[in-house]
Amino acid sequence: MAASALPFSIEDLTEVHAEYQKSLGLSDVTWGQVCTKPGGLVLPLAYKKLAANYYNFQFRSGDIVLLSYLKSGTVWTKEILWAMTHLNELHLADEQHIDDRNYFIDRDMVLPHVPGDGFLNTTRFPVECPGANKEDGVVKQLADADKGSRRLISSHLTFSHLNPSLLDTCKVVYVARNPKDVCLSSYNFFYNLGVMETGLAGCAELFMNGMLYYGLHHQHLREALQHRGHKNLHFMLYEDMKADLMAELRKLNSFLGLGIDDDGLKRVAEHTKFETMKAREKSIQIVPMTKDGSFFHKGSVGGWSKNASQELDAKMDAWIKENYSDIDIFK
Ligand code: A3P
Repeated sequence: MAASALPFSIEDLTEVHAEYQKSLGLSDVTWGQVCTKPGGLVLPLAYKKLAANYYNFQFRSGDIVLLSYLKSGTVWTKEILWAMTHLNELHLADEQHIDDRNYFIDRDMVLPHVPGDGFLNTTRFPVECPGANKEDGVVKQLADADKGSRRLISSHLTFSHLNPSLLDTCKVVYVARNPKDVCLSSYNFFYNLGVMETGLAGCAELFMNGMLYYGLHHQHLREALQHRGHKNLHFMLYEDMKADLMAELRKLNSFLGLGIDDDGLKRVAEHTKFETMKAREKSIQIVPMTKDGSFFHKGSVGGWSKNASQELDAKMDAWIKENYSDIDIFK
């Protein structure tokens, strides 16, 4: 199939931007970054080479695709989708890394920068994609080579950065989380990764200016919400999942047409409980942490208010008021 040209440009982030990020505590972004225009996605430099791969990625009718802004409950939802589609082999989650159970296509641009890469697909790659070039995307090519009727795929890219036929081709789940907790979770994540050196306030400043990876949270949501009502798109909210997971599983089950009974869904809920997943952290963690903290920080709702100063909270409230007035998914 002929590749389509990209409907956006990819610009290097200027040194001024890098300095700005550094001044707010995001240290040593030595691998370089780019920003898409329009789109405003801040991404690693490797995106430049892989953008066409993402944009032209061939989804198939049986695929289940998970999209989200980062730190919104992606891994949780990934595990849920896997469990719902592998109900009779849940024990495999102890043996197989989540990256071997879900094609996280963004890995191909993030991967080169991960120290001590614990990424299991690198061992599968030469076997399943003989003669293929890693530089063209490990996950992408593994997914292409997968002849199964149902692939589980995930990405933090927005619809406009993925194949325009995505929604008309297969089922898409979009998981969202309230911006305050996304910001706090991002801070903890970057801090534990060892790339965020100052406090929450610096990270929040970057978040509110769309200078963390994947750009502005509200734009990400807005793009997804533009497709609300499409029969192949299902929205999930982290907060709803925390409040009543079984109710959310029933809705997801019905959207995916899996026909799982309540006993099966209870097993999915048990398998994907925060504590259960945290206990399996080794086979779930996406990036090795350099500090003591865990990928599974608290997994709670409202953590922001316990961590942000009054002044920072007020700033965030004003920013939300200004930018989320048309976004009605958060209660
Ligand atoms: P916290 O940092 O608030 O703990 P993502 O997967 O999109 O990066 O999101 C990560 C967030 O989801 C983290 O939030 C993580 O703890 C939380 N999370 C992961 N698994 C979870 C689960 N089973 N239940 C609740 N939260 C979970």
